[in-house]
Amino acid sequence: MKQVFGVFGNPIGHSLSPAMHNAAFSALGMDCIYHAFRVKPEKLEKAILGAEAMGFGGLNLTVPLKEEALKLDFIKPDPLAKRIGAINTVVFGKTGEIQGYNTDGLGARQALMNAAVEIEGSRVVIAGAGGAARAVAFQLAAAGADITVINRTEERAFELAKEISAETLPGKINGAGLSGLKELLQDADILINTTTLGMHPNTDTTIATAEELHSSLTVFDIVYNPLETRLLREAKVAGAKTVSGVLMLVYQGAEAFKLWTGIEPPIELMKKTVLEALQA
Ligand code: ATR
Repeated sequence: MKQVFGVFGNPIGHSLSPAMHNAAFSALGMDCIYHAFRVKPEKLEKAILGAEAMGFGGLNLTVPLKEEALKLDFIKPDPLAKRIGAINTVVFGKTGEIQGYNTDGLGARQALMNAAVEIEGSRVVIAGAGGAARAVAFQLAAAGADITVINRTEERAFELAKEISAETLPGKINGAGLSGLKELLQDADILINTTTLGMHPNTDTTIATAEELHSSLTVFDIVYNPLETRLLREAKVAGAKTVSGVLMLVYQGAEAFKLWTGIEPPIELMKKTVLEALQA
């Protein structure tokens, strides 16, 4: 009998995770199927326990359930998920325990590593202070980056920086308002956009233009719809290195896959599948 895996979220119709994971299962000859399920936050507890009772192999959680899952006391969050304040991967242990992980930040770190970008000791500007920024900031601070979080609502940037500074992580972190972006970028090695600027349908918006960027910068936009955001186009004009958000999506999925199965999934195939789905 096929083992079932799934992603819970709402809305969930446009999720790329089923295509990505099913391609991996089939390439590896595993008798497994991954499906998307629409689950409302108030039904999350029943849905996870139901999945466990039915012998699901594992779950992903997405908007608006990641933070909600941390409130469920039957899920044991790993320390990073707890720090980030969100769970995106649920693992059903062999002895009945249910564990929660967050692979979003790791996905971002792997995407940068894949592009041969040095993280330890590098000066990173993270634009945005929402859930995605939290995951990325914690992971990169753990990897020894020197981070400045900038956000339209300055207080959220200060708050996030304060929380991360309170942890004993090798990296340093500060908060700032958007007005400081231009100056900060002059000395930065990496810019990561975690805001919704540039995301469909607001494809003409961008956190920075070519004049503010420079050729020794790596620009990573976690927005992957459209595939090439205005920020990435501006970065190319400035001669900067670019990293696509598709890679973060693929690597966070690959990390979840490893947690469920203990098997290394075919990354290139997952990437190709996601790109094809986005271009369709
Ligand atoms: P997520 O949890 O997915 O990261 P979020 O919490 O809604 O999403 O965060 C979205 C981010 O995009 C926030 O940092 C937001 O800035 P505010 O905290 O000031 O709201 C940022 N953002 C959204 N629209 C923006 C805009 N027009 N200009 C600048 N930043 C914007």
